[in-house]
Amino acid sequence: MKTIEDIDLKNKKVVIRVDYNVPVENGVIKDNSKIEKSLKSINYLLENNCRVVILSHFGRIKSEEDKTKNSLKIVAKELANLLGRNVKFLDNCYGDKVKSIVNNCSLGEVILLENTRFMDIPEKESGNDLALAEFWASLGEIYINDAFGSMHRAHASTAGIAKFIPHAIGFLVMDELEHLNILISGTPHPFTVFMGGAKVDDKLPIIKSLIDRCDYLLVGGGIANSFLKAKGADVGNSIATSDEGILNELKKLMDENKIVLPVDFTIDDGVIYDVGSKSIDVYKKYIDNSKIVFVNGTCGKFEDERFMEGTSNLFKVLSEARCKVIVGGGDTASACKKFSSEDKYYFISSGGGATLEYIADGTLKALEWME
Ligand code: 3PG
Repeated sequence: MKTIEDIDLKNKKVVIRVDYNVPVENGVIKDNSKIEKSLKSINYLLENNCRVVILSHFGRIKSEEDKTKNSLKIVAKELANLLGRNVKFLDNCYGDKVKSIVNNCSLGEVILLENTRFMDIPEKESGNDLALAEFWASLGEIYINDAFGSMHRAHASTAGIAKFIPHAIGFLVMDELEHLNILISGTPHPFTVFMGGAKVDDKLPIIKSLIDRCDYLLVGGGIANSFLKAKGADVGNSIATSDEGILNELKKLMDENKIVLPVDFTIDDGVIYDVGSKSIDVYKKYIDNSKIVFVNGTCGKFEDERFMEGTSNLFKVLSEARCKVIVGGGDTASACKKFSSEDKYYFISSGGGATLEYIADGTLKALEWME
């Protein structure tokens, strides 16, 4: 696998795929860390006097109306601020006009194309349509993939494009792989995983993959409710799977004696929304005894002040732990940053699904297109 440093980039036209799928509320970017983390590669390209054409998705596009809510224009402004230079934003990502504007740009210019998923009606970007991939490849001489958070998707802009021009991974992806590799081989023990969040159905493959490798699997949130239900507990209307096949699998997983369940809860109207302080004490015992901890998901509905205590206390424990702590991205990273200080962690991943896929499989769908 080539990296951005292995390729001669001097005065080249480069297409770089990043993950600018940032959280936006009322027109304001709530967390710009994905944009910040892309700067190292973009600045490196600029130091090499490249013409930089940036591709990214933003949200999911199923209808024309979705397009009005998911323009990357807002990101172009933030990127220009962070880079301290002009960013040319094109309100399209495909077609002759795009090609001609890009061709007429000079070396040293930065161009951000509109959301690649605007090409998802019908699903050309998500369907890895190779004609579309070839078009994007035609905008440059070299392709850099720095979109770690999107690399579990084999889409035209993350995968197919690598078929057409020389390619390499960027600094953000290098950093992610380097830090996450410790969870794939040479992992120090005891190795503890905390797995939380709402739905166990989505996370069953990663749970199965990790249970063989870890010493303890602490569970919280809706995932814990599903394990409790599989054990025969009455969880009322709390979030939990009702799939009998999955419940049976969870029951079998508990035979391994590695799974640590919460022991007390915050309940409102018969629904479990958070874990209680005794559960945090139990988690702490395992965390303090570990050499490394991987955290994915939260203890409950932490966005609601009434139910944030479990998650807030968990991150207090993690941030004070002496072991290495790796935080899976997405909501987990947001909670981590909300309740503790980032510099207390060994690594906070920028990916959600991508992080889980990489740890479970040791590879990513988009990486396979770059071999
Ligand atoms: C993310 O935010 O997790 C990534 O950008 C992937 O987004 P997606 O799930 O819409 O592909």
